[in-house]
Amino acid sequence: MKDTVLVTGGTGFIGSHTTVELQQAGYNVVIVDNLSNSNADVLDGIEKITGIRPAFEKVDCCDMKALEAVFEKYNGIKGIIHFAASKAVGESVEKPLMYYRNNLNSLINLLELMPKYGVKGIIFSSSCTVYGQPDAENLPVTESAPIKKAESPYGNTKQVNEEIIQDYVNSGAPIKSIILRYFNPIGSHPTAYIGELPNGVPANLIPYLTQTAAGIRECLTVFGDNYNTPDGSCIRDYIYVVDLAKAHVCAMARILDGKAEEPVEIFNIGTGHGVSVLELINSFERATGVKLNYKIGERRAGDIEAIWGNVDKANKVLGWSANTPLDEVLLSAWNWQKHLVK
Ligand code: UD1
Repeated sequence: MKDTVLVTGGTGFIGSHTTVELQQAGYNVVIVDNLSNSNADVLDGIEKITGIRPAFEKVDCCDMKALEAVFEKYNGIKGIIHFAASKAVGESVEKPLMYYRNNLNSLINLLELMPKYGVKGIIFSSSCTVYGQPDAENLPVTESAPIKKAESPYGNTKQVNEEIIQDYVNSGAPIKSIILRYFNPIGSHPTAYIGELPNGVPANLIPYLTQTAAGIRECLTVFGDNYNTPDGSCIRDYIYVVDLAKAHVCAMARILDGKAEEPVEIFNIGTGHGVSVLELINSFERATGVKLNYKIGERRAGDIEAIWGNVDKANKVLGWSANTPLDEVLLSAWNWQKHLVK
């Protein structure tokens, strides 16, 4: 058995997939989650896949006392992967203080506890949202591209959290950190035992698309076809959640095996390819054989025209790459949607 890793937000979409990959790589996982946007049944799904039920504590990372009790109880936590955060862009505009309180306090609490309990490193879930709309000459975007002023309180919490980690480590704290800037995570585990569980009407493309295909929503609206892109729709770098989960295992091993070269390292985690909304719809129809009801609508306020990542650094330094074909990824999202409807 390898080291014990604490996964905050481990019953969420990316957290649950990462727990599976960590367990399959031999790590012992302890999950903390306040279940504000997920549900404890996810633990059954994880256990069905790996044969191991992860330890679980229903704890809010903003609650310092309860969080510290977890470190006391599971003596010997060596690494943390911190997913627990509020993540809806629109909601963050309406409830900024909730976003700042949740997303900043939880990280600060974890950082404060790390030296006391001998935790060596923390992997932080950041986002390509920190780049805003990169200038055309900066696409695909590298880790050294300028950070743009955040478009939302959610985006700002990602930027500020990155700075908090940098400042704390620079102050001489005896910890290391790897910051992963995700592009657009999509898809589900191939078993369809775990996947994305959107709350209410989905704001993100894939859950809206699969719910439309399943007849739960009437029609998918493509937000604009008059952008300066080859087919006029927006371009993103859609990364398969299982590939993304594996990047966390590589990053954790890099810290725990003492291979990290800098105290804080930053990696883009994407495929390196941009795909437009219309291309994605075509790919979904091809992969699943399901005809999608969609229409072209107005642009969505705040949307970025085109962004995709340069992932050379993650490929070379982390020894990781995303290699699942998009059709397969979309089929996994569809299989999960069908599983939900059952
Ligand atoms: C947003 C966040 C990102 C976060 C991601 C996943 C910003 C700027 N972006 O990304 O940080 O990591 O969510 O939670 O904060 N679209 C449609 N119709 C729909 C829904 C979406 O055409 O019904 C289009 C959008 O215009 C966009 C693409 O699909 O071009 C992807 O949208 P979405 O899934 O919401 O993700 P992002 O906005 O890219």
